[in-house]
Amino acid sequence: MSKLIGVCGATGKQGGGVLAALQRIGGFKLRALTRNPASPSSTKLAGPDVELVKADFDDPVSLREAFKGCDAVFGVTDFWVACGGDGDRELQQGKNLVDAAKAEGVKHFVWSSLEDTRPALAPSRQPLDSKGRTVPHFDAKSEVEAYLREQLPTAWTCVYPSVFYENLLPGAGMDPQPQPDGSFLIAQPCQAKMSWNATADIGNVAAAVIAGGPAAFAGKRVGVNGEEATLADVAAAFSKVFGKKVAAVTPPHDDWAQMVVGFGVPEPVAKDLANMFLFYDTVDMRQLRPLSETKRLVPGVLGLEAWLEQNRAKFAPLFG
Ligand SMILES: NC(=O)c1ccc[n+]([C@@H]2O[C@H](COP(=O)([O-])OP(=O)(O)OC[C@H]3O[C@@H](n4cnc5c(N)ncnc54)[C@H](OP(=O)(O)O)[C@@H]3O)[C@@H](O)[C@H]2O)c1
Repeated sequence: MSKLIGVCGATGKQGGGVLAALQRIGGFKLRALTRNPASPSSTKLAGPDVELVKADFDDPVSLREAFKGCDAVFGVTDFWVACGGDGDRELQQGKNLVDAAKAEGVKHFVWSSLEDTRPALAPSRQPLDSKGRTVPHFDAKSEVEAYLREQLPTAWTCVYPSVFYENLLPGAGMDPQPQPDGSFLIAQPCQAKMSWNATADIGNVAAAVIAGGPAAFAGKRVGVNGEEATLADVAAAFSKVFGKKVAAVTPPHDDWAQMVVGFGVPEPVAKDLANMFLFYDTVDMRQLRPLSETKRLVPGVLGLEAWLEQNRAKFAPLFG
C-alpha cells in the first residue's frame, strides 16, 4: 500500500518543493491542498499520483476532510499574505492544522518551523505585538511547534528552513539594486554568516523526512542549509556568476527599518524583518541547520552559485 501524504501550501514555494521531491522519490499517493483546486497553479500539479483537494487553514472542517486517510502531512503557513502579518492568526492556522491531524490519526506531522526569538531579543527590544513577539513571523511558528509537540508528542518533526535564495530574485526584497555608476548594491542589516537554501531543497529535506517516517524522524528538528554566507559573500557570488560589480552594505538594524519604511514597506513588516536580522546577528542561526546534516539527507543540495546559475534567466531584467 502506498502511503498517502497531504501537502499544505502545494501551490507555493515550500509545499511545491515538497510535492515535487516526493514525486521524484516515487511510490507515494499525494494530496495537494489548496484553497482553489481549479486555479491554474493547482491544476498544473494534478497527475496520476497527485489529487487536488480543497482545504483552507482557517476552516477546520475542510482540514479534517483533507487529512482523512493521510499517513503524513507537511504543514506550512503563509505569515505574510495569508495571515496578513498577524502572529495570532498564524498560530490559529497552525493549531487548526495540528488539531485536524490529531483528529484524523495522522501518524507523522512535519511542520515548517522557525525559532522563538524572544529569549534572545526580548531583553533589548520592544515587543511588536500584545503577545510579546519580537519577530512575529518566527515566534508564531515556534508557538505552533510547541502546540504540535504537546498534541502529537510521538508524531512530530520540525523542519527549519534557512533564508530562501528566492528572496534574491528581482523584486523579491533582497535583490541587488542598480546604482548610478552601473554597479549593484545589496543593502540589508546583517553582518553574520547566515544559512541559505533553495526552496526546492526544503522540499528535498522534508521529503526525506517523510520517506524515513516517524521511526527515523519523530521528535527531531531537522535543518535545511545549502550555503553559509554573509551578505558580502552573496554579493561576491553575484559578481562571479554575472560578471557585474555587486557590493553589500549592512546598515544598522533600526536605520534600515526606517529606510525601507521610506520606500513604502509597512512599518510592522520593516520592524519584524529588522529584528529578524538582529536575531541572526545575535544567535548563530546555523546551530539548528548544520550544513553537514542537510548534505547527508540531500547529497546534491544546491549552493548559492549553483542556484544563481540555474536561475540565470530570471536575473535578465537586472543584469541583461
Ligand atoms: N522567505 C524566506 O526566506 C523564508 C524563510 C523561512 C520561512 N519562511 C516562511 O515561509 C512561509 C511562506 O511559505 P512559501 O514561501 O512556500 O509560501 P508561498 O510560495 O507564498 O505560497 C503560499 C501557499 O500557502 C497556501 N495558503 C495560503 N493561505 C492559505 C489558507 N488560508 N488555506 C490553505 N492554503 C493557504 C497557498 O495556497 P493556495 O493559494 O493555492 O490556496 C500557497 O500554496 C511564510 O510563513 C514565511 O514566514 C520564509
